[in-house]
Amino acid sequence: MTRVLAINGSYRDDGITDQIVETMAQAVAAAGGEIEVVQLRNYPIEFCLNCRECTQHPGTAPGQCVHSDGMAALIDKIEFADAYILASPTNFSSVTAVFKRFMERLVVYAYWPWGTATPKFRKAGLPLKKAVLVTSSAAPGILGRWMFATRGQLNMTARTIGAAAIGTIYPGLIAKDRHTRLPDKLKARATALANRLVRNQG
Ligand SMILES: Cc1cc2nc3c(=O)[nH]c(=O)nc-3n(C[C@H](O)[C@H](O)[C@H](O)COP(=O)(O)O)c2cc1C
Repeated sequence: MTRVLAINGSYRDDGITDQIVETMAQAVAAAGGEIEVVQLRNYPIEFCLNCRECTQHPGTAPGQCVHSDGMAALIDKIEFADAYILASPTNFSSVTAVFKRFMERLVVYAYWPWGTATPKFRKAGLPLKKAVLVTSSAAPGILGRWMFATRGQLNMTARTIGAAAIGTIYPGLIAKDRHTRLPDKLKARATALANRLVRNQG
């Protein structure tokens, strides 16, 4: 059974990001996969201390962080999962602050001893898991893909944890109403991508 982990950096209950993640979660379950959704807005993660203790020892397993918070359990979930949904709205041209805080804690996936200029990513060269990237913006999606850093940041997150994106869901023009409902066309795309995460297709 394919285990899918969704990591959602939206602040808003039932916003567009929640609706996409929920649609995908239902589709994963309907296709026979296992789904767990982590809402970063409710999840206890401290800021990275930049101490780099976690980066000093080589190996493909994530390093040990000095914090004792929810991140160790989240890393276990990431390691255990076969596929990912990585989601964050675009705020000030970027992933949200809670998603960025989570991203920085993924430095455990780098081997970066003192004296080396650049990190080596622990999962580089290993078989890649699958990921779907989800973001949204007030700007039209077609512009947002090029103007904003969000998609690149979600992609970097996927690469860091050893996954490659098989697709992106990027609705734009989200700020027109207080509560935009997910259009049917996007529901269909979210469902199709969720099926691709579960079934053995590229
Ligand atoms: C603090 C803040 C900053 C935002 N910055 C941008 C931005 O830089 N570009 C943009 O197109 N939309 C921006 N937006 C609009 C959000 O991207 C949009 O509301 C979001 O996609 C909604 O996601 P949600 O429904 O999951 O909350 C911003 C919204 C907020 C509240």
